[in-house]
Amino acid sequence: MKAPDGADVHARLTGVTRIFDMASGAKLAALGPIDLDIKRGEFFGVVGPSGCGKSTLLDILAGLSPPTAGTVLFEGKPIDGVPDGVGVVFQEDASFSWLSVYDNVAFGLRRAGADAAEIKRRVEYAIGFMGLPDFAKAYPAQLSGGMRQRVCIARTLVLQPRLILLDEPFGALDQQTRLLMGEELLRLWRETGATVMLITHALDEAAMLSDRVGVMSSRPGQFIDFIETEWSRERDSRVVSDPRFGAITSRLWEKLRVESLKTMGGAAPGAKP
Ligand SMILES: Nc1ncnc2c1ncn2[C@@H]1O[C@H](COP(=O)(O)OP(=O)(O)OP(=O)(O)O)[C@@H](O)[C@H]1O
Ligand SMILES: [Mg+2]
Repeated sequence: MKAPDGADVHARLTGVTRIFDMASGAKLAALGPIDLDIKRGEFFGVVGPSGCGKSTLLDILAGLSPPTAGTVLFEGKPIDGVPDGVGVVFQEDASFSWLSVYDNVAFGLRRAGADAAEIKRRVEYAIGFMGLPDFAKAYPAQLSGGMRQRVCIARTLVLQPRLILLDEPFGALDQQTRLLMGEELLRLWRETGATVMLITHALDEAAMLSDRVGVMSSRPGQFIDFIETEWSRERDSRVVSDPRFGAITSRLWEKLRVESLKTMGGAAPGAKP
């Protein structure tokens, strides 16, 4: 399957919408319609105002929740349940409180029936990668929020997904750790050749990490802009000093400001009524 520019399509959404039934009996249009091609191997960032449907989009791509209308293809096949090869890091802490860090990270590999030596090698690598080797035996309640989130990231990465969906994974981290974790994610992306979709509210993070950033409108979220960053694959957080970085973040903010004001129930100062 090819995108219009000839690149391989890894996931394709066509006419995707999601309408929720509210307890009151009313309907809530949360998302779409969305037409989107995510290219194989691309790092795709998504920004949009709170409540515009970003997590809903991720759930649909992960096969966790069906769209109300439209089709979703992963590697050319319709998604029906969680597809093999897709890994998800959720917005909220989803670590298993009753398992140690090591067992949290080993969970998926054990379930997949990997052999013990392979599990040990991959789990130790993932825990090291996330900077948690001293906490392998700790339980989530003994960790900080940011560390718990790193456990969740390690738990997903250890399965070596071909498509990694991350929903604000660094939200609980301080700025410095966020930048370094972003660099680690870039390294992993380069090394594995995985496709990444990263949802983030941090415009600098989206601009620094992504090959392409999609900007969503207020609810029901639709893509209103796509920005190609044109960074080299070898990029790291030093791109923030590139003049183009400022231009990219300004364009993101320009689009997002108007949409966020709509979400907050206001009109953009200076905007025509
Ligand atoms: N299971 C559900 N039932 C009913 N409404 C839902 C459900 N899940 C989400 N919604 C609604 O759909 C809309 C989009 O929610 P979603 O969580 O996708 O937003 P978001 O863009 O991820 O927001 P945030 O940036 O705050 O995480 C919201 O109005 C939310 O209230
Ligand atoms: Mg969300």
